[in-house]
Amino acid sequence: MTTLPMQHTAPLTEQQGWRAGLLWFPDPQHPQARHESDALVVTAREADGVVRIQAIGPHRELAPQWPELPVTHWPGLCMAPGFVDLHIHYPQTDVIGSPADGLLPWLEHYTFPHEKQLADPARAQEVAGFFLDELMRQGVTTALCFATAHPASVDAFMAQAQQRHLRMLSGKVLQDRHSPDGLRDTDTAWSLRQTEDLIRRWHGVDRLGYAITPRFAPTSTREQLHGAGEIAQQYPEVWVQSHVAENVDEIRWVHELFPEARSYLDVYDRAGLLRQRSVYAHCIHLDDADRRRMAEVGAAAAICPTSNLFLGSGFFDYPAADSAGLRCGLASDVGGGTSFSPFHTMHAAYTVARQNVGRPGIGLAPEHLWWQHTAGAAAALDLNGQVGNLLPGGEADFVVLQPRATPLLARRTAQTETLAEWLFAMVVLGDDRLIAHTVIQGQIAASARMSDNGA
Ligand code: GUN
Ligand code: ZN
Repeated sequence: MTTLPMQHTAPLTEQQGWRAGLLWFPDPQHPQARHESDALVVTAREADGVVRIQAIGPHRELAPQWPELPVTHWPGLCMAPGFVDLHIHYPQTDVIGSPADGLLPWLEHYTFPHEKQLADPARAQEVAGFFLDELMRQGVTTALCFATAHPASVDAFMAQAQQRHLRMLSGKVLQDRHSPDGLRDTDTAWSLRQTEDLIRRWHGVDRLGYAITPRFAPTSTREQLHGAGEIAQQYPEVWVQSHVAENVDEIRWVHELFPEARSYLDVYDRAGLLRQRSVYAHCIHLDDADRRRMAEVGAAAAICPTSNLFLGSGFFDYPAADSAGLRCGLASDVGGGTSFSPFHTMHAAYTVARQNVGRPGIGLAPEHLWWQHTAGAAAALDLNGQVGNLLPGGEADFVVLQPRATPLLARRTAQTETLAEWLFAMVVLGDDRLIAHTVIQGQIAASARMSDNGA
């Protein structure tokens, strides 16, 4: 490993060192991980107020270059990129584990009634605060997150994220039909104006970003989808998020509602909602033309394996996505998803790819799974170099792993011989106990209760 210093001309404050093992992706575009057993990471606040990584390297090489640096030392632990969740719903925190006979009954019986509760700003604040603390506890430092149809639900989320100095992306859900009273946009033009107001209020404030958020094609009129598409063209720097091709009943419904479209994806394409910085959750039942189209415009797929298994939606086709050059990242999709833990999501992604479901199963490498939930997910968001890695110039959000967090993890990780074996043991056995600390902007924001296993 070579020491990677960064040239800086602007004044730096709050310089800090962090010493432990280090896991990172030297080329953020490629799922090849590196590990250093005793590393130093140097962070400092830059002139724009953001705390970034200034240098990484083996401790013995880098420490002499920073003689006055206050250093936090975690012997036996390992620093790793903060996880990036490419698709999650904060208002569904209390929906996790609500079983239903597939997506559409689940939405009707559990999800919509819960989301209606966020019309109350106090409730939205409370749920958003709990949700963000839980994300950090699980090692997730950035997420692309649905709010609800209520603009105040976005205000609550953004304010709570801002208080915690997080890089978070969210937006008001657009849904002007096939939705219950209290969740339905009753005035389409007004819903679009609310979206623009929220973009002006929140996009680019501190580390917050706005995402234009049509729920999915069945709950928006053509007028709303096309209006959202116009806003998406007008503000190319904001994100677009929605759902596509998740469930066969949903797809049948989309074909009835939009007979003019070649495919479900084409509904969004015709509305101007398919572009770089657009992220579509699920992407299970796409065809090759859809995948190629997404790759051509630089749109990304959020792969949601725990949700797809829980709701019985289907199996993401990794080889087909790969052949098309589709940008992908991993996502929990809480509350359809069953866990906030990136380890559970990576494990489920491995399981999904392994299945023979009309095509041969494949074995995804643990580095690949880890990358798709960190640097790869950041690249899908166009935030490459900013989050999801531990390279100089990146923002100082990271996790500290305790590979001996449980007796079984301690035993299993001690017997691994390669980096891949070590990562695999954590992917399969890991959960929140593996996250000893989460560091946000150079501050320890969450810490696990330490076990007796050497922490
Ligand atoms: N499709 C439309 N809305 C939703 C949602 O909230 N969750 C999931 N998994 N799919 C959806
Ligand atoms: Zn979702």
